[in-house]
Amino acid sequence: MKLHMNLDEHSYDIILERGCLKQLRNYTDVNHKILIISDDNVPREYIDTVAAQCPECFIHIVKHGEQAKSLHIFEKICDDLLKHHFSRKDKIIALGGGVVGDLSGYVAASYMRGIDFIQIPTTTLSQIDSSIGGKVAINFNGVKNIIGSFYQPKLVLIDPNTLKTLPRRHYINGLVEALKAGLIYDASLFEMFENKDIDRDIDEIIAKALAVKKAVVEQDEKEQGLRKILNFGHTIGHAIEADNHLHDLYHGECVALGMPYFMSDKQLRERTQAICKKMGLPSEVSAHHANWLSVMRNDKKADHDKIDTVWVHEAGQAVIKQMSIAEIAELLEDTL
Ligand SMILES: NC(=O)c1ccc[n+]([C@@H]2O[C@H](COP(=O)([O-])OP(=O)(O)OC[C@H]3O[C@@H](n4cnc5c(N)ncnc54)[C@H](O)[C@@H]3O)[C@@H](O)[C@H]2O)c1
Repeated sequence: MKLHMNLDEHSYDIILERGCLKQLRNYTDVNHKILIISDDNVPREYIDTVAAQCPECFIHIVKHGEQAKSLHIFEKICDDLLKHHFSRKDKIIALGGGVVGDLSGYVAASYMRGIDFIQIPTTTLSQIDSSIGGKVAINFNGVKNIIGSFYQPKLVLIDPNTLKTLPRRHYINGLVEALKAGLIYDASLFEMFENKDIDRDIDEIIAKALAVKKAVVEQDEKEQGLRKILNFGHTIGHAIEADNHLHDLYHGECVALGMPYFMSDKQLRERTQAICKKMGLPSEVSAHHANWLSVMRNDKKADHDKIDTVWVHEAGQAVIKQMSIAEIAELLEDTL
């Protein structure tokens, strides 16, 4: 299946096809220098499969985990690009999850004021969400994604076969972004989580989630308005994630915990919580409200004391509402 992200001169194809990892050459010109960036948990066979198709290929492997999104690693990759005399005609391929995608994209956006990059996502989270839309970033001074850019890839190649090696917890974690996409924009996708099989029907789930993100990004590439709805569940989710020294939760798990706070309809909230339970997602976290509120106050998306929160009153529709930190504090006390 081929989708096309329509963003004028920044448009690109998104290929979703089992086995497409082996077909890179059918979708892009590989006859120049290519740096594949991946991490040490991504199975070597995927890296070798891509590398075998690129005549002049270099490989940079980072240590897996969020710490890879750092200035230090950014510098090391730029060093590699310089050492191998990469020019603007050359390319970067991000092969891995959202960490590798965000990091590689930021390097690509910066090196020589921008060289081409291709996303080959290999986690559910990156196949469903992070590989399209052009948000690229690294972390700095403990603040997530604080240095970054909007920089679109030239191509996104999604091969669901790569998910066979993904640990179950990561698999489920990424699916939360698809559940979120259903809740904010496509009720039929939300219902798939109730009626279909998240393993057997994964290709359809990915396709529908991509269609949601594509539609939203095409209308608002730089997050001036509508794109904010993709942050549903993230206001409290991010706060829980930033408070992570107290537990060990993944991004999607935190978003799943954050979503119910912004659902006014009790029945819809209960349906969502039942889905999360069926998927084996955590249903509880210690409520460190003071810590969460302090994270929200420092959030780069906050406008002084005001935060744009995203509400879902009925499946498939989202509404943005500006709230003060005090109002959110009240909500935390009252809900659930
Ligand atoms: N740019 C965006 O729009 C956007 C959106 C959401 C999240 N993000 C970012 O995405 C990151 C999280 O991404 P993630 O959840 O993919 O985590 P991740 O990139 O850390 O990948 C999870 C783990 O799975 C391993 N892995 C990857 N593919 C594998 C495979 N096929 N088989 C076996 N192991 C595999 C990785 O090596 C890693 O250890 C965060 O940094 C978050 O900020 C970005």
